[in-house]
Amino acid sequence: YRRLRVALLGAGAVGSQVASLLRQHADELADRAGARLELVGIAVRDVDAKRDVDLPRELFTTDADSLIVGSDIVIELMGGIEPAREYLLHAINSGADIVTANKALLATHGPEIFDAADQVGAEVYYEAAAAGAIPIIRPLRDSLAGDRVQRIMGIVNGTTNYILDRMDTEGAEFSDVLADAQRLGYAEADPTADVEGYDAAQKAAILASLAFHTTVPLDAVHREGITSIDKSMMDAARHAGYVIKLLAVCERLTEASGESISVRVYPALIDRAHPLASVHGANNAVFVQAEAAGNLMFYGAGAGGVQTASAVLGDVVSAARRHIAGGVGVGESTLANLPIVPVGRV
Ligand code: NDP
Ligand code: HSE
Repeated sequence: YRRLRVALLGAGAVGSQVASLLRQHADELADRAGARLELVGIAVRDVDAKRDVDLPRELFTTDADSLIVGSDIVIELMGGIEPAREYLLHAINSGADIVTANKALLATHGPEIFDAADQVGAEVYYEAAAAGAIPIIRPLRDSLAGDRVQRIMGIVNGTTNYILDRMDTEGAEFSDVLADAQRLGYAEADPTADVEGYDAAQKAAILASLAFHTTVPLDAVHREGITSIDKSMMDAARHAGYVIKLLAVCERLTEASGESISVRVYPALIDRAHPLASVHGANNAVFVQAEAAGNLMFYGAGAGGVQTASAVLGDVVSAARRHIAGGVGVGESTLANLPIVPVGRV
């Protein structure tokens, strides 16, 4: 097999698992990708930090820029906006295809990253940027490209679902369960992103942009978090036959003046008989309602290092196949430029 150089930026909850699986399944991945995926280095802040898995010390570096140069595929799993944005642009301009799980970056600088990739014929893969291990980016971008999505409704943040679920089922306290979610690798580096709904809003913006073939800016997403939910509210909801879940709802609205899009993230009362009420732990579920396909449901692990690594590695295999095929990728659909409903209108 031809060798492809793979650079990894970040070895935290997700990155360390990606590095481990890349090495552990090297032969199988080579067969699937049609190329040997050679992990040439891992950029981190502290090369001596303790990792979740054992990885050779010599792979680690703090010099991400040097690692990027000459790489065929760059996997960004650092999170945050800077320096992740800068490194991804560097990777694209150095001729690499990129794989990222960074919804914060894509929801705020997606057009810049995608345009930079388009200009040099590179591809950006981001299956792990929404709903962890659940395949939802490709279904929306590719499988449903011939349909008209009307509505997406789902639980897209694992940390808040884990917290609300344990508050509901065990009567646990918010702060105790948040600490557990952090320990288990579900939460963002700054968990405010999870509990205040920013992470779900970023994912909703990404999903709505794909579903409605437009660019939904983050500030057009109505956002509420779960920090105001306490035990008494959970108890009241339970007694009334409901459970509280953080929901993301992306809708195509049809009015006399034409079509528009509404994207909202908020804690909602869900009837216990509804399938979303049975989404436990850090799992996510996404319902997609499309004109021709009808109702589709996607369910699975929404957070967690090794689970998310599955989605990242799927992207790496796709990137490798594209590389081997000489850079023939799947094109993006044309932007429809539908107006976005301002925050607070729906
Ligand atoms: P972590 O915080 O666990 O790991 C981040 C890694 O990036 C660390 O290894 C850190 O280095 C490295 N890093 C951070 N900043 C820099 C920098 N400036 N220069 C070099 N290295 C840096 O993050 P996660 O693994 O949890 O998440 C990674 C990405 O995946 C994020 O975008 C997140 O939103 C996304 N994601 C996470 C999921 C999860 O369940 N955790 C699920 C889906 C997506 P060091 O170790 O030395 O500090
Ligand atoms: N912090 C995120 C969550 C990770 O809890 O859903 C997965 O995107």
